[in-house]
Amino acid sequence: MPGTCVIGLQWGDEAKGKLVDLLTADFDWVVRYQGGANAGHTVVVGEDTYKLHHIPSGILSTEAKNLITPGVVLNPPTILKEIESLTSRNIRVAENLLISDRVHLVLPWHLEEDRILNKAVVDGENIGTTLRGIGPCYRDKVGRTYAVRVGDMYRPDFREKIERTTAAKQNLLGSIDPSYALQLNADEIYQEYSGYAEKLKPHVADTTAMLLDAVDADARILFEGAQGALLDIDHGTFPFVTSSNSSGVGVAAGSGVPPRCITRVIGVIKAYSTRVGGGPFPTEQDNETGQHIRDLGNEYGTTTGRPRRCGWFDAVAVRYTARLSGVDMLSLMMLDVLSELEEIQICVAYEINGQRVTDFPSHPDDLRQAKPIYETLAGWQTDVTKIDRAEDLPENAIAYMNRISELVGRPVGVASVGPDRAQTMFLDEELAQTYGNSASSR
Ligand code: GDP
Ligand code: IMO
Ligand code: MG
Repeated sequence: MPGTCVIGLQWGDEAKGKLVDLLTADFDWVVRYQGGANAGHTVVVGEDTYKLHHIPSGILSTEAKNLITPGVVLNPPTILKEIESLTSRNIRVAENLLISDRVHLVLPWHLEEDRILNKAVVDGENIGTTLRGIGPCYRDKVGRTYAVRVGDMYRPDFREKIERTTAAKQNLLGSIDPSYALQLNADEIYQEYSGYAEKLKPHVADTTAMLLDAVDADARILFEGAQGALLDIDHGTFPFVTSSNSSGVGVAAGSGVPPRCITRVIGVIKAYSTRVGGGPFPTEQDNETGQHIRDLGNEYGTTTGRPRRCGWFDAVAVRYTARLSGVDMLSLMMLDVLSELEEIQICVAYEINGQRVTDFPSHPDDLRQAKPIYETLAGWQTDVTKIDRAEDLPENAIAYMNRISELVGRPVGVASVGPDRAQTMFLDEELAQTYGNSASSR
């Protein structure tokens, strides 16, 4: 059964949405299996730009079914707005979007908790979440007592569940913030969510059963990761992470598809690094170079609009996440953003306490101390945005791509030189055969 995963290997925003949209043409199912409205995936089709937070990036195809599976946390007003916006732009959402009844709901208290807790300094820094209630919602899921799932909205005890949970959450909010004055109104919340339940009903389904049938039928499934592997709750730069398994290890758990069904993993990377929010970032360039990358890459958050922190490519980090995620090939994005630079640096190792280190550290203090050891490569200083065959890339761009591949230990299967679908080259033979090896053939 051909199950392909698209996983971000850095701190998110690697352009997963662009790749998923392109790959969807060859898939029957596209699956978002973790994260929530903290994600912001951009798809550019000619003059049209779509920013998707909840709905899988396969939705622009009219053929594929798009699933939101149990590992996701769902914000109903956000997804309803997204459905409305896509529908008004003539994208057929209706029967192409299915949401698992096992998905957990983000409720008003999660947003409040996120706002209050996000002021806290953790390990010397502020986590700087997207304020979408992600951490508090996952905490309730794991804690179970106060969790509410999509399927609960259609049960006779839904009102009682909301009343009981609202009372508990009111106490909790008062205890974590003594100045907390807002009164949560259980009746209003119940009414509001009952309204959402009605609107979402046509999309709610047992996606687990559907996917297991799809597996039995040898259907083609594409898994769309959200965030990036360095933000993984277990394997990322904890505590400066998100609250789900955003590396390759999360696919099976979040979707309900057995791991053995995953036959191909594509790791998406930018040709440099970015990070939004707090946390150690060894190769950060908080200087003119960083600003140059931010300007050319338009590095501002899709979800929050925050300027992204920018820096050089970190091969220590990506080698780690590529191995962790079982990556078969890399999809190297944003090569065009580096086109004006005379020289480009790649971090090949860290120096920590006088030692050369190539294993990614587990503690944020070690990562904070890590001094990157750089290798310098010559830039190409040529516009690459119209190049549609890898062999036509400037020699120095090819050398840069090859060096990244060598350091990470995986081949580059896709290269991207701009946001548009057409600005993509498939180097991997199988992908080239399926999608055409150059933009001009699409
Ligand atoms: P995602 O969260 O991984 O889907 O990525 P985002 O959508 O948050 O951020 C990626 C941004 O880069 C979007 O604005 C894309 O339109 C844009 N983009 C994608 N590929 C390229 C590329 O090769 N070059 C440039 N300059 N921009 C790109
Ligand atoms: P996509 O899918 C980049 C970051 C936040 C913060 C940390 C925790 O578009 O790549 P959270 O709200 O999840 O509790 O925030 O994770 N973060 C992302 N950064 N891209 C994302 O998603 C992100 N989703 C969360 O900035 O540092
Ligand atoms: Mg994004």
